[in-house]
Amino acid sequence: MSLQGKTALVTGGSRGIGRAAAERLAADGARVAVHYGTNEAAAKETVEAITAAGGAAFAVPAEFGTPGAVDALHDGLVAGLDGAGLDILVNNAAIVDYDDNIHDVTPEAFDRLIEINVKAPLFLTQRVLPLIPDGGRIVNVSSGVTWFAQPEITYGITKGALNVFSRSLARTLGPRGITVNAVSPGITETDMNGWLQDPTSAGRVAAMVALGRHGQAPDIADVIAFFASADARWVTGEVLEVNGGLWLGPNER
Ligand SMILES: NC(=O)c1ccc[n+]([C@@H]2O[C@H](COP(=O)([O-])OP(=O)(O)OC[C@H]3O[C@@H](n4cnc5c(N)ncnc54)[C@H](OP(=O)(O)O)[C@@H]3O)[C@@H](O)[C@H]2O)c1
Repeated sequence: MSLQGKTALVTGGSRGIGRAAAERLAADGARVAVHYGTNEAAAKETVEAITAAGGAAFAVPAEFGTPGAVDALHDGLVAGLDGAGLDILVNNAAIVDYDDNIHDVTPEAFDRLIEINVKAPLFLTQRVLPLIPDGGRIVNVSSGVTWFAQPEITYGITKGALNVFSRSLARTLGPRGITVNAVSPGITETDMNGWLQDPTSAGRVAAMVALGRHGQAPDIADVIAFFASADARWVTGEVLEVNGGLWLGPNER
């Protein structure tokens, strides 16, 4: 219970990696704001799972990419925190668009990815910064697509931007003792990667990974929890690849 007495906000905490992070931070003792976009049932399920396990959580809706979303999230967060500050911010919510390639991407689709994956975490961070005490923690969820090339060109650009955002913010907030790091997942089984349900696709991924399988959401969440913990106090401005050893070299299997 190393986060006893702390509070956390996990954007996109209703499903996938965000849900696993919310559950892990709550298990460590934090009171967790579970943010979601539109899937109220998933957020409710996450909050119920946390409370059933003895933790504390509340849901906050705000659909990034719609007007006023950051303000709505801020206001819902403040109401739920009930006078407390925000010790841990996890910028996790994002979308991928599988039509996002150089041939088919449109200015509108580009703007939507930038809006949700970059603009929302940046302006959310700006908005909640006054709630974060000295010594607080910010963890941004990036992606391995910043170093392995995928056709989804704008998505990759948004995650590269998030890495730069993390390092700049780490420098700016260092004097306040606030650490800012990015966790960069490899290929992880969530709703975003429905294609991993296909055993042939999963097998192809396993053959590229030194540890021989694709990732599960808790594999990533546990590292998010590390960056949120006191143990990570001397680490800031880092991007950590969390992928089981993706493409380390030819696989002999
Ligand atoms: N899965 C992977 O293999 C993988 C790999 C590398 C990086 N990542 C990154 O890991 C993070 C989590 O991904 P995931 O795979 O867990 O995704 P996911 O299962 O699709 O969950 C996405 C979460 O983001 C929220 N969200 C989506 N669009 C939103 C919007 N417009 N406004 C507010 N919230 C929104 C969703 O809320 P609702 O439930 O309301 O829809 C949901 O909680 C993302 O940053 C992703 O880029 C994932």
